[in-house]
Amino acid sequence: MSDSFRRQLRALPDFPDMMPGFDPATAPADPTELFHQWLDEALAAGERQPHACSLATVDGSGQPSSRMLILKNIDDDGWQFATARTSRKGRELSANPRAALNFYWPSLGRQVRVAGPVVELSVEASARDWAERPRADGSGNPDWQLYAIQPAEIEFWQASHDRSHIRHKFGPDGVLPG
Ligand SMILES: Cc1cc2nc3c(=O)[nH]c(=O)nc-3n(C[C@H](O)[C@H](O)[C@H](O)COP(=O)(O)O)c2cc1C
Repeated sequence: MSDSFRRQLRALPDFPDMMPGFDPATAPADPTELFHQWLDEALAAGERQPHACSLATVDGSGQPSSRMLILKNIDDDGWQFATARTSRKGRELSANPRAALNFYWPSLGRQVRVAGPVVELSVEASARDWAERPRADGSGNPDWQLYAIQPAEIEFWQASHDRSHIRHKFGPDGVLPG
């Protein structure tokens, strides 16, 4: 059984035949601008929720956990997401305000990784995010919290069929040597 499952997994499709190129030398110097460009290209390629990403947090024993989230914005505060403060991730972020995001756009063979410290944004910004949810009914939720990751690192990754996958990494002060 486990052998046939192994073969089933091995036979699944790899990256698509056609993938965009990516030349870090001509990419925007600002990672936010590059992310906007890649998100637009993911939408154009038909990705349904290109703003969905995994969020990894860590508990008090060092055990990581991850789950999917929606990116709400990127601005001077950082890369924003929202959740309930009393959720597992909310409790883990209170105790250890560090996290990592990972976006994956299969039709383009692209991933973007973001990691760094997390801050809590204002009550007003959190309330606005709650109010703007799809199917919002006008009720409030004092437990809802908007957070922002302030990236210590951002890595743009482009798959390539010759396996020379391209990694383009930014630190807090700009592009890092490859
Ligand atoms: C595509 C997708 C988007 C999601 N977006 C959010 C979100 O923005 N905020 C949120 O709290 N949960 C979101 N969820 C649910 C979370 O993945 C998770 O199940 C929930 O927040 C509880 O996580 P926790 O127990 O680790 O705290 C989303 C799930 C999926 C599959």
